[in-house]
Amino acid sequence: MVYDKKDFISTKELTIEQIDYILTQAMTFREINQREVKKIPTLKGRTIINLFFEPSTRTRTSFEIAGKRLGADVINISSSTSSTQKGETLMDTVRNIQAMASDIIVIRHSFSGSVKFVADNVETHIVNAGDGLNEHPTQSMLDLLTIKLQKGRLEGLNVTIIGDIAHSRVARSNIWAMKTCGMNVKLFGPPTMIPVGVEAFSVDIAKNMEEAVKDADVIIMLRIQRERMAKLLIPSEREYSKLFGLTPSVMEKAKPDVMVMHPGPINRGVELSSVVADSQNSAILNQVENGVAIRMAVLSFLAMSKNNGESI
Ligand code: CP
Repeated sequence: MVYDKKDFISTKELTIEQIDYILTQAMTFREINQREVKKIPTLKGRTIINLFFEPSTRTRTSFEIAGKRLGADVINISSSTSSTQKGETLMDTVRNIQAMASDIIVIRHSFSGSVKFVADNVETHIVNAGDGLNEHPTQSMLDLLTIKLQKGRLEGLNVTIIGDIAHSRVARSNIWAMKTCGMNVKLFGPPTMIPVGVEAFSVDIAKNMEEAVKDADVIIMLRIQRERMAKLLIPSEREYSKLFGLTPSVMEKAKPDVMVMHPGPINRGVELSSVVADSQNSAILNQVENGVAIRMAVLSFLAMSKNNGESI
């Protein structure tokens, strides 16, 4: 097996072979998801715990669907109903869940690095479903799958990521993975939302919206992550929308077949107009569809992995 790590935490060290393997596996699961009966016994008898300390619609639901379609028993725990409310630590919570013989624990947490810390200290397979502003690796894989299915390739494509890059784990995971796949990545957003040390990413920075969109094969729009800011880093949403929003008039400057993507949730009328979000160019619901197949792929190869030590 190309992917033989205990956990799935980051895209940073994924090789092109591992990314290809994940996407190929997910293509098979896409086919299963289109059948009338969508259940297979790959993970029958296995137990998957979804442990979410932040809100989620797409990621939590698709991990649950993915696990159930693979025949596993899936339990969802959210921070509001867990004993973390009574002061229990994340490590103690995970160790207690591990003691119940769980096979895979999927974790979303607001602290960057928290999921890797847990993974390095328990034997159970751990999947990062988003840690603070650090990484969201399965989102990146489903974005790559969506692009590959529509464009037929990844290498050489121009991708522009627009918005609150500084607070976006989706941007980070995508930058690492897309560069590994030979894609050209450009960023654009308010200067206050471009991360300090952006040079480390070795990507281009656009000066204005026209430059950001004009050569793009794919545009990924990001929402403003208010929950990760001490105070709002822009004067107003109206001004933000005017300068950084993707509207029909901005789309006139882009390639006619440009793909418009967004990890969700969308703030309609802020970073993305409803007309563009619901247009022929939008691949947003394709991303959601592919999220189930990617998560089936990740859960199944981790469950089959014999590696009980090394994380990625
Ligand atoms: N893309 C994403 O992570 O969406 P949710 O927050 O709804 O899971």
